Amino acid sequence: MLRVEFLKYMAALAAMWKISPVVARQIVEAEISRQDFGKDFSWGVATSAYQVEGAWNLDGKGESIWDRYTQKQGNIKDSSDGKVASDFYHRYKSDLGLLKSLNLKNFRFSFSWPRLLPDGTGKVNGQGIGFYDRMIDTCLNLGIEPWAMLYHWDLPQKLEDKDGWTNRDIVGWFSEYADLCSRKFGDRIKHWMVLNEPGSYTTLGYLSGIHAPSRIGIGNYLSSVHHTCLCQAEGGRILRENVPNGHIGTTFSCSYIEPEKETSLYQSAAKRLDVVFNRLFIEPSLGMGYPFEDLPFLEKMAPYIQNGDMEKLKYEFDFIGIQNYFRVIAKPFPIPYLWASRVKPETDAEMTEMGWEVHPDGMYKIIKQFAKYPIKEIIVTENGAAFPDQIVNGRIHDLQRINFYKRYLQNTLRAKREGVNITGYFAWTFIDNFEWVEGFHPRFGLVHNDFKTQERIVKDSGYWFRDFLK
Ligand code: GAL
Repeated sequence: MLRVEFLKYMAALAAMWKISPVVARQIVEAEISRQDFGKDFSWGVATSAYQVEGAWNLDGKGESIWDRYTQKQGNIKDSSDGKVASDFYHRYKSDLGLLKSLNLKNFRFSFSWPRLLPDGTGKVNGQGIGFYDRMIDTCLNLGIEPWAMLYHWDLPQKLEDKDGWTNRDIVGWFSEYADLCSRKFGDRIKHWMVLNEPGSYTTLGYLSGIHAPSRIGIGNYLSSVHHTCLCQAEGGRILRENVPNGHIGTTFSCSYIEPEKETSLYQSAAKRLDVVFNRLFIEPSLGMGYPFEDLPFLEKMAPYIQNGDMEKLKYEFDFIGIQNYFRVIAKPFPIPYLWASRVKPETDAEMTEMGWEVHPDGMYKIIKQFAKYPIKEIIVTENGAAFPDQIVNGRIHDLQRINFYKRYLQNTLRAKREGVNITGYFAWTFIDNFEWVEGFHPRFGLVHNDFKTQERIVKDSGYWFRDFLK
């Protein structure tokens, strides 16, 4: 980047952060080093099957709820879908080679449930097993450690036809799937995660209906929450049984919540949002039960809870994956049941293309909040940002993304230095991909993808990681 451009950029950042350009420059230039995080810290990138694989109907794969949902006009902003996505299914070898060249030694991916079990249960798709076998072996041959996620939102459509997460039978369906994955791949994969952000897919998919499978209503939501919590623990137990020396975790979306004003009305609104955003899925796994007292409408979950369930919800994970992007400011608001809502960030706040406020301090605070739970190890399993990328002479100077990473990493380090056992960090994401209902527009990758030609260009943020991790 030219010096003039750099100075202009500093001035813009300074205005956004409401600080002087000199201080902005100090922040940007403040170096953190890999050594600060310790030599055993795991550095990597996270991806998910539906967002990158493509090959939606190849080699025996069954239909997923996202294959179905994306076909309905109006569901996806740019009317795109994940039929081809980043074509990782065909390009995994060169992509993993590229990953290695950026010194990123840990690769988080998810299994596509309908690629392995096209009907959700029963007949196993050997070609699906073959794909993951080859992909995992490629990782290992390159010296890249694979981190497997069992469920990243692409439920087999055949199971949604039987009511998906709202049907208690999902505990059996999910157990069969978890058993299959861990038996087939547990000889080569040490690091496992059960669910990606249960708070996101239950709320967006079964309450507001703005994600697949587009169901709405409190009953759908609460039953999907309870069945998810049962699967979370059961999944952990199955992985442990099949991979006794495995490193087993699960992940949560989480955001530090602040009341807009320091009054008791606002503070209790913040407390209610905290339940939904941060507490609902981790607390039952720790044996703390559901946080009914802080959000009484959750008691409507009672009809779905059977005798002995509270015991079954418990599972001691080796690590908890936290996924943080923004903070949340809360105010009281007449939304039924919740009586709280988010306040829009100030108009001059630094925002990503997702409309999320950049607030690195929130990363520190949410890590500290989770560290109060009796958990053994925390890993940041997702963190990243979408900004408008421009190709200039074949390069992408995404300084804003680099600065995002630096500041979120500084805040991760701050928590680590205060004694929190944080053992890894995964950037979201490796390559530009299909960003759910947003389609292809917001780009989160360290590597740019041209979705027409599938040509990859490493962004400056990718090179930043390469040099940082050297
Ligand atoms: C997470 C999700 C990812 C990705 C990311 C950016 O919530 O797990 O799949 O989409 O957000 O929006």
